[in-house]
Amino acid sequence: MSAVSKDAKRMTVHTLKRMKDAGEKISMLTAYDYSMAKIIDAAGIDVILVGDSASNVMAGHETTLPITLDQMIYHATSVIRAVERSLVVVDLPFGSYQGNSELALESAIRIMKESGAHAVKLEGGSEIIESVSRILSAGVPVMGHLGLTPQSIYKFGTYTVRAKKEAEAAKLLEDAKLLEETGVFGLVMEKIPAQLATEVSKTLSIPTIGIGAGNGTDGQVLVSHDLFGITKEFHPRFLRRYATLYDIMKEAVEHYIKDVKSTDFPNEKEQY
Ligand code: KIV
Repeated sequence: MSAVSKDAKRMTVHTLKRMKDAGEKISMLTAYDYSMAKIIDAAGIDVILVGDSASNVMAGHETTLPITLDQMIYHATSVIRAVERSLVVVDLPFGSYQGNSELALESAIRIMKESGAHAVKLEGGSEIIESVSRILSAGVPVMGHLGLTPQSIYKFGTYTVRAKKEAEAAKLLEDAKLLEETGVFGLVMEKIPAQLATEVSKTLSIPTIGIGAGNGTDGQVLVSHDLFGITKEFHPRFLRRYATLYDIMKEAVEHYIKDVKSTDFPNEKEQY
């Protein structure tokens, strides 16, 4: 860790801005429960995202659409109890903000009040700008999310790279500028060409965080289950696995089963 994040006892949206200005990269990972958040926070991550990817990796849904606001608040509350230093950002789930800025404000306030989170994240650009603006007016920090926005998966049809064509790339850049002007403190860009993500990052003065967007963004985010190698079947090009926990955990369970069946567990020291 270099100076800015090392000096911060508690990460804030202002720390992230100072990190961008100092050229220090921002680390961000998802967490959805107390135990995982405790490990990730203790390791010194800058930002924890309670992502609606909980719908996939915690609940086993194919998409992020089914997760509810109540479920997001449950995950966020569990994470907040564990965190001492990281900034905790929570996704507003599908159906809790699109097309209705009053509902968006209500949803954001519920997240902040009931979970104790520090900020919310919304997917989209100009089409959700009224919601972004209304939430900001209540003093709630907002993070944007452009590129592959999984809540719109049925509009896109596939999870392939977005904004490869000029028109979509131009719209993304315009949306990024609009979000910054409206007051978001940061922007996630998912699965877009590295060159475009670099251009957006250089254009904006707020921090950008990439996932599958190359090395020119101000920080990186991954889904923690992917980083840990718990999600064995998911291997997009952008993913680097830092552990193979699926295999390690499966072996541990197989070992336990063997010991139970053979009456090796519990032994005399493991009983009262
Ligand atoms: O829900 C999530 O995990 C996300 C990240 C992929 C950025 O939005």
